[in-house]
Amino acid sequence: MDWGMTNRIAGIIAPATGRCLMLAVDHGYFQGPTTGLEKPGETVKPLLPHADALMITRGALRNTIDANLLTPIVLRVSGGTSILQDDLSHEDITVSVEDAIRLNAACMAISIFVGSANEKSTLVNLSKLCDKGQRYGIPVLAVTAVGKEMARDARYLGLACRIAAELGAQIVKTYYCEGFEKVVNGCPVPVIIAGGKKIEEREALGLAYRAMYAGAVGVDMGRNSFQSQWPVAMIRAVRTIVHEGKTDAQAWETFESLRG
Ligand code: 5RP
Repeated sequence: MDWGMTNRIAGIIAPATGRCLMLAVDHGYFQGPTTGLEKPGETVKPLLPHADALMITRGALRNTIDANLLTPIVLRVSGGTSILQDDLSHEDITVSVEDAIRLNAACMAISIFVGSANEKSTLVNLSKLCDKGQRYGIPVLAVTAVGKEMARDARYLGLACRIAAELGAQIVKTYYCEGFEKVVNGCPVPVIIAGGKKIEEREALGLAYRAMYAGAVGVDMGRNSFQSQWPVAMIRAVRTIVHEGKTDAQAWETFESLRG
């Protein structure tokens, strides 16, 4: 692998541990001013010291985040739909690789919609983005988006993750499911889980632990971090699971002591 590509990935997934705690705040690209992200810069400020990478759009980055930030940026480069549509799958590439470079992106993130009406165009877009990433040494994170009608099971997510890796993604982000080890085993690149909708903190810690135990390299929790009443305590507790090998029960103790 090219030096630049390896170096950028090393900034996101710590080479010493092979683990990663990402903070996703890119929701506005199709959800608008998501609860807790009305002012993304203010939301992320206390959380960034505990995150290995920040997943964000170029608009939120340029307008709300201090450019002196040293945290690696995973730049959302797909979009083109909104929650007003029934079908969210017709995304396209919305950011040029030149702009990603200008923003010093460590990685470019794109969603794919396997099984949807727009499966082909999102997979071809992923492939084209991987070509561009290869040209400039920028890794691509493929997000396996799940439509309303699709089952979040190991068969479906395993299929979507494997296709993403086969088409060239260096990292895959997906959802946790029963039998998650099958998803990880069938995917030749590192797998990170998304948190999904806000759930109780104890439950979210259980989700993070089960995903790591099944072989995920990391967690990219957005709403379950920043929508918590105690976001710093939550991200720090998740960090103990990802980087210190703690169980969810131990992380819960950390959470309870930190929330005070
Ligand atoms: C949407 C995304 C988001 O970054 C991700 O889903 C947000 O994280 P969370 O689900 O934990 O709020 O990739 O496609």
